[in-house]
Amino acid sequence: MARIVITGGAGFIGSHLTDTLVASGHEVTVLDNLFTGRKSNLVQHWNNPKFEFVRHDVIESVLLEAEQVYHLACPASPVHYQHNPVKTIKTNVMGTINMLGLCKRVGARFLLASTSEVYGDPHEHPQRETYWGNVNPIGPRSCYDEGKRVAETLTESYRLQNHVDTRIVRIFNTYGPRMLFDDGRVVSNFIVQALKGNDITVYGDGNQTRSFCYVSDLVAGLIAMMQNESFHGPVNLGNPNEMTIAELAKLIISMTNSKSKLRHENLPKDDPVRRKPDITVAGRELNWKPTVELKQGLTKTIADFEQRLRAEG
Ligand SMILES: NC(=O)c1ccc[n+]([C@@H]2O[C@H](COP(=O)([O-])OP(=O)(O)OC[C@H]3O[C@@H](n4cnc5c(N)ncnc54)[C@H](O)[C@@H]3O)[C@@H](O)[C@H]2O)c1
Repeated sequence: MARIVITGGAGFIGSHLTDTLVASGHEVTVLDNLFTGRKSNLVQHWNNPKFEFVRHDVIESVLLEAEQVYHLACPASPVHYQHNPVKTIKTNVMGTINMLGLCKRVGARFLLASTSEVYGDPHEHPQRETYWGNVNPIGPRSCYDEGKRVAETLTESYRLQNHVDTRIVRIFNTYGPRMLFDDGRVVSNFIVQALKGNDITVYGDGNQTRSFCYVSDLVAGLIAMMQNESFHGPVNLGNPNEMTIAELAKLIISMTNSKSKLRHENLPKDDPVRRKPDITVAGRELNWKPTVELKQGLTKTIADFEQRLRAEG
């Protein structure tokens, strides 16, 4: 059993990762400043002596013992990471340096939760890990995507220069229970709008594509990468089943028996037109591929949203 630190563990993906690692009997310490995370995502572990929650901002350094560090702390949705762009950059730069420094001191393995956004508006499709990306350094998304790019650079530099045992994972769109209602991400937006019977806002003509990975598949991939003894990545983790945004909207309307109609609005600046992972490397190195069908994952996600919306009245 390992001593594991998860930064951002009170958030959407981090809390599911915590659930899985705690269930496997590991000692898990979550560091989170609760910017977009919630304690309610972790209450199920409150009385477990192997679990600890520390309210901590990763831009400050921390002294802890650990064998593994999953570094997820960073707001992931545009509404949140654009709320305070300078803070987002600090989280990605100073936060990543602090956690890499900790791993260097205590000899822990470090896994960076990077993102498909490092590919920007890609000229290569689907995106392979070898693609360097097409990113605007001064655009509205750059605090996040350039922040993650430098976080990757830091991770690779600590590996080569300081021999920290690192892993880089590029996460593509992930969905599931516990996503915030108001995070502006397409799955959560559509589900909330459909359940409330409001218009479904589709940006542009709705023909832009995305692919969606259910959170349990993603968590399995993160753990497989951390447990791999020799492969440092980067590795894409995501679901390659591509669909248009308009198709997704129609599927959610039908699954929620909603009377909502589609309403088209202007595309946000720098919104990528297509996004789909090539997961050949994950298959070869980690023997990983997603297993949860979109309908299956959406059923669980819709049930969670319904229950939380009811609880909020
Ligand atoms: N969800 C996705 O589709 C997706 C896609 C690509 C990458 N990622 C990456 O995965 C990670 C987790 O994403 P998520 O969807 O769970 O997002 P989230 O916003 O739900 O979780 C992020 C967590 O980090 C915490 N946090 C933010 N800044 C912090 C700071 N300075 N110090 C300490 N804690 C801080 C937040 O409170 C939150 O609990 C992020 O690094 C994100 O960039 C997610």
